[in-house]
Amino acid sequence: VSELQVWTHASEILTGEGIRRNEGRHPQEEDLGRILDGAVAFDQKKVLWVGETSKLPKRYLKYKAKSLRGQKCVIPGLIDCHTHLIFAGDRADEFSDRCAGATYEEIAARGGGILKTVEATRRTSEKELLNLALVRTKEIERRGVRTIEVKTGYGLDQETELKCLRVARELKRRCPHLTFHITYLGAHAIPKGRTSRDYLNEMEQVTLPLIAKQKLADSIDIFVDRGYFSTSEAKQFLIRAKELEFPIRIHADELVCTHSAELAAEIGALSADHLLQISERGIQMLAKSQTTAVLLPGTAFFLKTAQAPARKLLEAGARVALSTDFNPGSSMTLSLPLIMTFGALSLGMSRSEIFAAVTYNAACALGLQAKKGTIAPGMSSDIVAHPFQKFEEIYYRFGW
Ligand code: NIG
Ligand code: FE
Repeated sequence: VSELQVWTHASEILTGEGIRRNEGRHPQEEDLGRILDGAVAFDQKKVLWVGETSKLPKRYLKYKAKSLRGQKCVIPGLIDCHTHLIFAGDRADEFSDRCAGATYEEIAARGGGILKTVEATRRTSEKELLNLALVRTKEIERRGVRTIEVKTGYGLDQETELKCLRVARELKRRCPHLTFHITYLGAHAIPKGRTSRDYLNEMEQVTLPLIAKQKLADSIDIFVDRGYFSTSEAKQFLIRAKELEFPIRIHADELVCTHSAELAAEIGALSADHLLQISERGIQMLAKSQTTAVLLPGTAFFLKTAQAPARKLLEAGARVALSTDFNPGSSMTLSLPLIMTFGALSLGMSRSEIFAAVTYNAACALGLQAKKGTIAPGMSSDIVAHPFQKFEEIYYRFGW
């Protein structure tokens, strides 16, 4: 019984109930489920009741309530649905080169980029990788994030990829108050000295079945782009992953248009991510599908490229999520609130669209929407009281 908690006098509570009702499409102000002077009762697992403080049912009065004194807004724990959390080293030198005019693709072509981080990650012990991941997780969490997607992809050989999957599993064990979704991104780049066909064959025949058997990952991802994997290679690879009953996702249409957003919609991916170069047909197909469009405006900012056509996706009725894409090459930030600021200023997203993008819609990208991203009886109690009166202060104070 003592584990039951009651919070009262929140300046506002945004439940996001209408967003859930509309499956995250066309989020409107009235979908936010805004409650002024709100209260919420919950136990360790679930929300039991939410509403106005004056209407708190009598049965909760016997518990000592914590008053938020009109100073705090309460929202679902935020969800960062696309991070490359597990890697060693950094690429500050490449950042300087890019500042001097080199492009991301030029740096990759001369052996830098992802392959550089792969070398550092292979050299680093499991224990050290875990320490790095724990420090990063703390920083993500500090800003109100409670669910984090974590990709591998800096091993590019079975041994190191499995090492990174074990690190992710240990991270999960060490942070029981958070939810992790682990994604195997072995197909992040073509390893040095191998062909894409040879590496994909190994993953399709050996690594994926092993990961399935040992339940080491929650989903499978692939980077489809010029200089990486092709759309037809991805199709075969993801069909294999589906046979093994994995949910799938795609790094799609980032550097050039490969029509991989269309592939994501066609084969029922949970998410299609990046979409800087998505085609008109890709937009229409995503809008009609159950695939969530995950936009990563920090990446376009950091690479100095054009942003994804967010308004077109939103107006077509796509379910749009926002995430950090935290990684050492194209988005070295752990701040989801900063990404929300980009959502507002660079993508032209409204308050309700931004709220949906880091709660319910991000939960959909991870297949967690039955529990996460909405405050309602029966839903997860990982709710957060932010030190601001209004939700939008989280990203108005940019860089927080
Ligand atoms: O999401 N696009 C592929 N992967 C990362 C970049 C990885 C890196 O540069 O290390 C991304 O942008
Ligand atoms: Fe990424």
